[in-house]
Amino acid sequence: MSQDFSNKIAIVTGAASGIGAAVALRLAAQGAKVVVADRDLRGAQSVATSIADAGGVATAFEIDVADAVEVEAMVAFTTRTYGGLHLAVNNAGIGGPSAPVGAYPLDGWHDVIGVNLNSVFYSLRYEIPAILASGGGAIVNMSSILGTLGFAQACAYVSAKHAMVGLTKTAAIEYATHGIRINAVGPGFIDTPLLSKNLDQAALQYITTLHPIGRLGTASEVAALTCFLLSDEASFITGSYHLVDGGYSAL
Ligand code: NAI
Repeated sequence: MSQDFSNKIAIVTGAASGIGAAVALRLAAQGAKVVVADRDLRGAQSVATSIADAGGVATAFEIDVADAVEVEAMVAFTTRTYGGLHLAVNNAGIGGPSAPVGAYPLDGWHDVIGVNLNSVFYSLRYEIPAILASGGGAIVNMSSILGTLGFAQACAYVSAKHAMVGLTKTAAIEYATHGIRINAVGPGFIDTPLLSKNLDQAALQYITTLHPIGRLGTASEVAALTCFLLSDEASFITGSYHLVDGGYSAL
């Protein structure tokens, strides 16, 4: 079975909630041993418990992905606990402040770049050597439709998601002949706590109208694409950016 992740070891960051939780649950259901990494340890433990209750294998790991030392420790914990690393989904992210560029708070800029972009470099920096040492694998970086489109009041988020696509392409080129495929996923607006915490009902309704399909996406729809890209079915796919956006970017 090409989407059988048996004997694969995976890290998913931001896996306590939303898209990351859906990816962790799906990978584990298909046989992967999963490190459920998040700054929300209780949430991560809850996801790991759900995986174990369903007969899978997972461990929660508390981390701030914006801290390179903690990212290195996450990868070391994974290889120590499960004996290697094959799959990684660098997914943790925050929305950040809403303001135009000319008034954007400096600390908000640094927070968003730290969590949404620096973290992806740190993750690749430590995951790639571990995956090479384990005989190869695949990585997905969670970008956004805002990895290629602008969005008013969200300059830090949009900048981080664009830069992540360039980082993904560059890493993919470097490791294409070394057995590691690296891709980015670009979701449209997905019904997760990231949206409900940051947007009021009127804003959510407006954003829904931007999707020709007439609704927001679900975390499991993003998890399905992500797991496909991690699987052997995607064996010729690397260095690219894949939309799951209900037609948002077709408008
Ligand atoms: P969410 O808010 O449901 O989950 C994000 C998770 O990341 C949370 O569990 C949170 O605790 C964790 N996290 C945040 N900062 C962290 C840090 N510094 N260290 C470790 N963990 C941290 O959000 P959602 O929607 O599941 O987002 C996941 C990813 O998908 C993010 O990168 C987001 O930018 C991206 N995305 C989300 C979209 C949406 O509409 N929900 C659309 C496009 C992309």
